[in-house]
Amino acid sequence: MSAQAGPKVTVQTLAQMKRDHRKIAMVTAYDASFARLVDQAGIDIILVGDSVGMVVEGRDNTLPVTMDQMVYHCQSVVRGRDASSTNAFGSGGRAQIVGDMPFMSYQVSVEEGIRNAGRLIKEGRAEAIKLEGGAEYSELVHRLVSIGIPVMGHIGLTPQSVHQMGGFKVQGRDASQAQRLKNDARALSDAGCYSIVLEGMPSDLATEITKDIDCPTIGIGAGVGCDGQVLVIYDLLGMNESFRPKFVKRYDNLAVRVRTAIEQYVTEVRGGQFPDEDHSFSKDAPAHKMTTPYGSVRATAGGQPERDPDASGAACIPIPIRPKK
Ligand code: KIV
Repeated sequence: MSAQAGPKVTVQTLAQMKRDHRKIAMVTAYDASFARLVDQAGIDIILVGDSVGMVVEGRDNTLPVTMDQMVYHCQSVVRGRDASSTNAFGSGGRAQIVGDMPFMSYQVSVEEGIRNAGRLIKEGRAEAIKLEGGAEYSELVHRLVSIGIPVMGHIGLTPQSVHQMGGFKVQGRDASQAQRLKNDARALSDAGCYSIVLEGMPSDLATEITKDIDCPTIGIGAGVGCDGQVLVIYDLLGMNESFRPKFVKRYDNLAVRVRTAIEQYVTEVRGGQFPDEDHSFSKDAPAHKMTTPYGSVRATAGGQPERDPDASGAACIPIPIRPKK
């Protein structure tokens, strides 16, 4: 476990990071298990993105995602983030958690936008919200910020406008589109956004916007000139072999690794090698009680808590050791 202990990431931390020219690392997560791991890895911001509709639900776009779903996923991510530090760092987790406003949760009226943003904060326990769109949302951003809800903007390739854009296409390639994006970024920054996602636009345009506005920019398919970067966690980990857009760098190939592990499990179940004695209860061995990463108590097989042989840090999380062949 890399030791990234430190004070909680806030709106002020991120503003300071821009001033200090320190890059911001953001990733999506949708459940407690990934939230715990990405927090332990030292990520600055966890985005509970409406991309959940695509990568978790298997839909073609993000449009059907509902407020109830976003609240549910935010709650799970907050629990995982909070559990990340109970073993290694003391308490609470470090990353800021941002809840994404789904399609039609804020487009109808400012009032509806405020009510739904409030749900992500109050019920979902997110610490900021993100919304797609430009200058047309200045009033909503202003109102939310005045209520005390930090807002992350999102311009460029905005997936909720997929039908308007005619597909998931890079934006801002011609001069008038580029000018509109610059105006949008400035309007959102002036309205009080504490950061803005720049998605799917030419690198030089994103760099120009980043220099032009005070708040940090977080890029995805927008080049290295942004103040930070975001990727969808399943893309970063290589969970989908058939999805390989130019802007995604794979840091692992989990599709292969997951399949290989499951194939081995299937083989061992069919061959009767699993469960062996190490993974079975006997009436003589006292049940060992230990805390799960989420605070409840469960019994494990055998006497001692098992440790991950590869873990470098304080391994309090029960990780089953693979049966030796
Ligand atoms: O929903 C999402 O994951 C996003 C990021 C890709 C920025 O909006």
